[in-house]
Amino acid sequence: MTRDPAHPARPGTGGPDTGPEAVGPRPGPVGPAPGPAAPGAVVLREMRWWDIEPVLALERELFPEDAWSPGMFWSELAHARGPGASRRYVVAELPCGRPEGEPPEEPPGEPGRTARRRIVGYAGLAASGGLGDVQTIAAAPDLWGTGLGARLLTELLQHATAFECEEVLLEVRVDNKRAQRLYERFGFEPIGFRRGYYQPGNVDALVMRLRMQGTEING
Ligand SMILES: CC(C)(COP(=O)(O)OP(=O)(O)OC[C@H]1O[C@@H](n2cnc3c(N)ncnc32)[C@H](O)[C@@H]1OP(=O)(O)O)[C@@H](O)C(=O)NCCC(=O)NCCS
Repeated sequence: MTRDPAHPARPGTGGPDTGPEAVGPRPGPVGPAPGPAAPGAVVLREMRWWDIEPVLALERELFPEDAWSPGMFWSELAHARGPGASRRYVVAELPCGRPEGEPPEEPPGEPGRTARRRIVGYAGLAASGGLGDVQTIAAAPDLWGTGLGARLLTELLQHATAFECEEVLLEVRVDNKRAQRLYERFGFEPIGFRRGYYQPGNVDALVMRLRMQGTEING
């Protein structure tokens, strides 16, 4: 994920440092829904400002060391609409099937879940001058391995095509092998490192690139 979306480190403006070399499951739901994760029921849609709060809950759970602030999400969404839009953010929603009329409070210990739907993933793309950047992508731990990450990435790459991106870049922690495997499945290739990119842990980022021309987006 990008460390700070307001200041993405892009190729040509600092570039990777060197050439290539090289959460456990959420507690089960309280009450009648949703039971075991049902990936088929997950719906993707555009992220809007009212999603920021539940997205932040997931963000803090998944990126405890370097979670984005609310302001970062607000700023990104401010560039996601209108004629000059350069961002596309999506959320994945899982209907909870709670009874009608139940109050929409967030059950304790279940960040992002409201009475009738639960945000279980999100992802964002920035695009400019033919270059796309995967800003962030995340799925709720209880849905890992169900194809949700692939769906989110597919959605972003479809928007990269719509933005006429010739290539898409991303940064990923060198120790995040699960995410790296996802990106590799889509044809992303390692092109370098950014040393100490993730702070405060001083963890390096692997920079990966996907050339869009002729790419079949199917995960
Ligand atoms: C990285 C991340 C988005 C991947 O999400 P995901 O939903 O687990 O991704 P997928 O389900 O599409 O793929 C993960 C694995 O499940 C497998 N899988 C996908 N659908 C499957 C299915 N229906 N049945 C069984 N396995 C399946 C994939 O083959 C893949 O296996 P692999 O890791 O051995 O290659 C998720 O782990 C996450 O949110 N991590 C924390 C945040 C993060 O690190 N984000 C990336 C920042 S750069």
